[in-house]
Amino acid sequence: MTLRLGDTAPDFTQDSTQGPIHFHGWAGDHWVVFFSHPADFTPVCTTELGRTAALSGEFARRHVKAIALSVDPLESHAKWVPDIEDTQGTAVNFPILADADRTVATLYDMIHPNASATATVRSVFIIDPKKVIRTTFTYPASTGRNFDEILRVIDSLQLTDGYKVATPVDWKDGDEVVILPSLQDPAEIAQRFPKGFRALRPYLRLTPQPNR
Ligand code: BEZ
Repeated sequence: MTLRLGDTAPDFTQDSTQGPIHFHGWAGDHWVVFFSHPADFTPVCTTELGRTAALSGEFARRHVKAIALSVDPLESHAKWVPDIEDTQGTAVNFPILADADRTVATLYDMIHPNASATATVRSVFIIDPKKVIRTTFTYPASTGRNFDEILRVIDSLQLTDGYKVATPVDWKDGDEVVILPSLQDPAEIAQRFPKGFRALRPYLRLTPQPNR
């Protein structure tokens, strides 16, 4: 099934390195970064899982839980985790799903047969506390993901959920944002954006980040 933005993230129950995971219950009221990697004992995946662990403070600050998946069995994950910890210098503090029967990989369309018949691609799903899929990324096996970008997107989603703004190209937390073009009432603009704004065009109005 192709999952699209705005769809409900499918629920599932699957084994993990932290015991069986009932996905929606495990997520609770958190945001979730759910990502697949092609296989255990592979170099790029080892760095990605280490980086995810190292970012646990950044995820917690944003009320985000991370969870990984590969189609390798639990015994393989259990042997690989010490390698990740040794080489990346961090405890693996999030669950890795052992999706050997591929139920979750199939549910989330993480196996792209023309890329690999057996391994999952590098999918990322950013899921909000209502279990709605808010962002997806798909990377090939040969390209490790940029976890700063994942955090940046979460920052944008959390900001734009709370204010009538969108984030422009290459935006980072703290940069100027754009006022939604649908917002036209001058009194409302003044009330929502007391720091003012600069209009480069009627449709392109920049304002300091409102939650700062
Ligand atoms: C890796 O994680 O290093 C990897 C996995 C599959 C193909 C190429 C690289």
